[in-house]
Amino acid sequence: MDQIEPLFAIPLLRSPGLLNAAQIEAAVDYIRTARMETNLRSSALFHTDIADPKDDPLFQEISRVVAPKLKDFGMLLFGEERRWSVKEIWTNVLEKGGSQALHSHANSFASGILYLTPSHSACKTVFVRPPGGYDFSFRHHTRTAAMGPYNAGKYVLPEAEPGDLVLFPSYLYHEVPMNQGEQRITIAFNAIPDSIDCWGYRINFSG
Ligand SMILES: [Fe+2]
Repeated sequence: MDQIEPLFAIPLLRSPGLLNAAQIEAAVDYIRTARMETNLRSSALFHTDIADPKDDPLFQEISRVVAPKLKDFGMLLFGEERRWSVKEIWTNVLEKGGSQALHSHANSFASGILYLTPSHSACKTVFVRPPGGYDFSFRHHTRTAAMGPYNAGKYVLPEAEPGDLVLFPSYLYHEVPMNQGEQRITIAFNAIPDSIDCWGYRINFSG
């Protein structure tokens, strides 16, 4: 019998409803009154300062809630349990007409997004296949072609509800198309393990 092996797959963890209603409300209240800065590339996208989660009770709580998910996700990345910590955290407020340009997160291993408000159907986070390197330079993308993990260029996250978490490797490029609906609020963070080890070549990390 034929077998298809999913070689060198990229993990992405979705955890629906991770935050409860009280946690979502507290986070939205915090963000709506926080000092915001305008995104360099979209005048309708605003962020709070990049914060150390240890400095803020809300972000401490978020870090506590995502900790077991980071442990599970870290098993997929490294195949062994590591001690993970959220080293920085910030928020994104996307007004109507705003978008988030394609980017990845440097100096980090796992990144996450927590959705606090519903997103317009046109404004879902899009993950992009890593460009170049090992792929054919030809594509067969038509209206009728069946798209799957082996040929798709993009992965559009399914509808994210308030309280949902998504975790992805920090190197994975992602973007948010133009918001055509109501204000969309998310919390984003970067996380690192305490150390990684390659046959004794060990590197320790601290936030
Ligand atoms: Fe991001």
